[in-house]
Amino acid sequence: MNGLEPILDTASPTRWAQLEPAELAARQRAAGSKRWAAAGEGELALGVADMDLPSPPFVPAALRRSLEHPTLGYHRLSPDVPPAIADWYRRHTGWSPGTDALAVFPFGLKTTIRLVLETLADTAAPTAVLSPIYDGLRRVAAAATAGVVEVPMTRADDGSYELDIDLLRDRIVAGGARTLLLCSPHNPLGRVWTESELTRMAELAAELDLLVVSDEVHGPLTHPDARHVTWPTVARRDRWAVVSSIGKGYNVSGIAGSWLVCGQARNRAPVLRALKAWGHHQGSMLGDAMMAACLSQGDEWLAERVALLSSLTRYAQATLARDSPAIGCTVPHAGYLLWLDLRRVVPASAWSDTAGHLARRAGLVLVDGTRFDPAHRGFARMSVATTWPVLREALHRLGAWGPGHRTAINHG
Ligand SMILES: Cc1ncc(COP(=O)(O)O)c(C=O)c1O
Repeated sequence: MNGLEPILDTASPTRWAQLEPAELAARQRAAGSKRWAAAGEGELALGVADMDLPSPPFVPAALRRSLEHPTLGYHRLSPDVPPAIADWYRRHTGWSPGTDALAVFPFGLKTTIRLVLETLADTAAPTAVLSPIYDGLRRVAAAATAGVVEVPMTRADDGSYELDIDLLRDRIVAGGARTLLLCSPHNPLGRVWTESELTRMAELAAELDLLVVSDEVHGPLTHPDARHVTWPTVARRDRWAVVSSIGKGYNVSGIAGSWLVCGQARNRAPVLRALKAWGHHQGSMLGDAMMAACLSQGDEWLAERVALLSSLTRYAQATLARDSPAIGCTVPHAGYLLWLDLRRVVPASAWSDTAGHLARRAGLVLVDGTRFDPAHRGFARMSVATTWPVLREALHRLGAWGPGHRTAINHG
């Protein structure tokens, strides 16, 4: 296999975590990584939100067990999955959904959000989002309903972002939005909404009779210094849908799967009818095996991974503060994405394509800020969920580069 002998002992991923940029890039490309495929020779791919760090060792074991069966025909939803989801919520959030309100899908989360919006939302009215926001959500909401009402978060001088509940109300009313698509925790800011913020949003949703669709896919990656509050625990009414998957938390987005919890169990039936009309049914052999394994066996692995991600983000933040103080950095309290304010190091003439400028000048492939909000020119999002040598090299390139600097790109 391309001269890349298998090296990964998934039970002890130490050697993998030390892979140098060139070797990691070669291995990830050979395995079909979308993120690394988009990077040129010598570039570091830290854009798409998945991890260069190994997925849990019990996942291949569960997949192998499924594949050992001699027939691979149509698969009904595994009866193990809904209770595993319900039990995971009980252990991790203190709240537990009824399995009669749960539906499990054989595709990724964006598709689930589109299905849910098309089935349960007022599609003749727009959907409100808090921006900057992951562009996949904006795109899906724009396609499923009558456009998107963008509500900016307020940016403080220290680079943190705050919810302006009055602005949220004003924009929703003015724009005629009937649905709030919440990203909780938030991508790209890594913001973990506090209970009091969520409660204010829940009161607003009740006041304006909004459907709330809460995307909680980054919830499992909440750092030890924060607490993810799931929407149902603050909701004032039952007009909500929680959507999520194990994709981000357990780094398994390559095998699709996701779920929906309905605030009103009676909403499950129309969603399942729509699912059938899309030509799908609940469950998939590999997706179900993986979900059952991660949700029932993965707590210890997840806690270790979250601790590592928290260390990587803190290290990146401290290194940037020391070596590149001109770069603003919003530190996530969930996940592994840094939101970088590069306006003091990128010339204003290049702000419309900050990521392109960074790729050319520093060999870093990040996601441009304008993808999350057209007003965020001069910003970019960077993942730190990679090996230590790649992260060190990426931070070095950021530090060494700026007005008047040219980074020596290590093509090694
Ligand atoms: C908040 C959020 N929702 C959904 C997705 C996409 O999920 P999927 O790839 O399963 O469609 C992402 C991916 O980055 C995300 O950050």
